[in-house]
Amino acid sequence: LRMILMGPPGAGKGTQAPKIKDKFCICHLATGDMLRSQVAKKTALGRAAKKIMDEGGLVSDEIMVGMIKNELDNNAECKNGYFGHSYSRNTFVLFFLTISFYSFILDGFPRTVPQADRLDSMLENRGEKLDHVVQLEIDDALLVARITGRLVHPASGRSYHRIFNPPKESMKDDVTGEPLIQRSDDNAETLKKRLVTYHQQTKPVVEYYKGKKVWKGIDASQEPGVVWRQLLGIFGETN
Ligand code: AP5
Ligand code: ZN
Repeated sequence: LRMILMGPPGAGKGTQAPKIKDKFCICHLATGDMLRSQVAKKTALGRAAKKIMDEGGLVSDEIMVGMIKNELDNNAECKNGYFGHSYSRNTFVLFFLTISFYSFILDGFPRTVPQADRLDSMLENRGEKLDHVVQLEIDDALLVARITGRLVHPASGRSYHRIFNPPKESMKDDVTGEPLIQRSDDNAETLKKRLVTYHQQTKPVVEYYKGKKVWKGIDASQEPGVVWRQLLGIFGETN
């Protein structure tokens, strides 16, 4: 399965993607999470990225494409393998054939048309295609409450919401018990800028895919379980 989950900040990409990952055993590549891990490690890229993220801008296409390509090529979770062999009677030579194909869910990438173009050619070079591009559709007005109430577990990327999805124990991750934090870009002011960036740079990507058969939009304003059922419908599954 190769799919892209798209949508504005707070639409629910990071909430739904891990469920798809668990169901189909594919890798979940969230470019925002990857950048935040660079920020946490205080690398040069992390320091540069933090400034851009806190201003609601976008990190360069070159860096982001490199990051995705590196993951697709080296992260074993992103590859499904097939091993076969053929035997030629005439030459008594045994051929071993190894085919591996990408299998992934992208969250936060591609965010610009050049990123989408580069992804297309990466896949084309391997004779592969996207199966689904799913757009989480939601009005901007609903996103402020989602973003300002979000709590995250930095190490895993798991997210909660103070009201809509509270952790079992206040400010603690359900799985590890470690503290939850608020993202530094999760405030009303930065959100406004993130939304401007989204409409200017990422909406054209939606148009880019919209004409293609793989594109589907779903109503992301509903509660998470309802959104999940709509997603299952796209995969032709019921539970
Ligand atoms: P990124 O981390 O990708 O942020 P984003 O796109 O702004 O998306 P969010 O993570 O805010 O939203 P989400 O859709 O995942 O929402 P979630 O499920 O958590 O990127 C951050 C920054 O990195 C960018 O601004 C940019 O600077 C940079 N960057 C990243 N990728 C890049 C790229 N490719 N190129 C250039 N720069 C890049 O849900 C939000 C909250 O709502 C949670 O609290 C959740 O519990 C709650 N919630 C979820 N679903 C529901 C529901 N159905 N009902 C009620 N509450 C819900
Ligand atoms: Zn996210």
